Amino acid sequence: MTVMNQDTNQRVIGAAPVGARDRESAAKAVREMFTSIAPRYDLLNHVLSLNIDRWWWWRTARKFDAILKHPNARVLDLCCGTGDMTFALRQRAASGTAQILGADFSHAMLQRAAVKGSGTTLRWIEADALQLPFPDGHFNLITSAFGFRNLADYDAGLLEIARVLAPSGEVGILDFGEPGGLMGYGYRIYFKKVLPAVGTMISGVRGPYAYLPASVERFPAPNEMLERMHQAGFSDPSWTPYTFGIAGLYRGMKKP
Ligand SMILES: C[S@@+](CC[C@H](N)C(=O)[O-])C[C@H]1O[C@@H](n2cnc3c(N)ncnc32)[C@H](O)[C@@H]1O
Repeated sequence: MTVMNQDTNQRVIGAAPVGARDRESAAKAVREMFTSIAPRYDLLNHVLSLNIDRWWWWRTARKFDAILKHPNARVLDLCCGTGDMTFALRQRAASGTAQILGADFSHAMLQRAAVKGSGTTLRWIEADALQLPFPDGHFNLITSAFGFRNLADYDAGLLEIARVLAPSGEVGILDFGEPGGLMGYGYRIYFKKVLPAVGTMISGVRGPYAYLPASVERFPAPNEMLERMHQAGFSDPSWTPYTFGIAGLYRGMKKP
């Protein structure tokens, strides 16, 4: 999808599921896609990632211990889906008093998060990442695991995150990458051929698991993503590859 930003005349970069014509239709297609796979999402996640996803969430949450253990920290897990990143944050916060909120625009995904999180102090909210229902400067930490890549406009997503973060608040975006070398070659075969076939078989839904490799291919490379974070107002953005770069964590701090 190529849409121009009328103010800056720059190309808008974001997720582009097949058939999407603009930002609205792309967001609608993404929401319907995740809603359609919600019943099997957790199972598929763990099977297709060989359970490495659990380690990625834990590793991400651990990086933000200083904030999570802070009394009264406000934390938002954006595009929380069925909540596994949110639970990893809760675990690291331990007995701390951090207020942790998971947000997603798929009701079906959130329903599963709420069931899994019953009996905890976690809260869930149905919201679009590009139009968050929070005041400026509200959160000390915002994470997003494997969700940011699905936004219809990455720059608008970064600006919205920066808006609701407090000065010196931090962002952590965990998402897929494309490993290079021989490892990358083998991985691409798995990601483009095996994963869509197994995903379609288990979920019973054609489409979402072909969209996954396409969306990763479309996602900016680390250098470009870091520049976009910088432009959105994050100081010293960094990227840490996980598992040979199959995934990686983008971090940044909102300028004080
Ligand atoms: C691949 S899932 C990731 C879920 C979870 N964070 C995890 O690590 O398993 C992506 C999630 O992002 C959500 N999402 C995509 N675009 C969104 C948007 N604009 N606003 C809110 N949620 C969005 C989808 O509904 C979906 O639940």
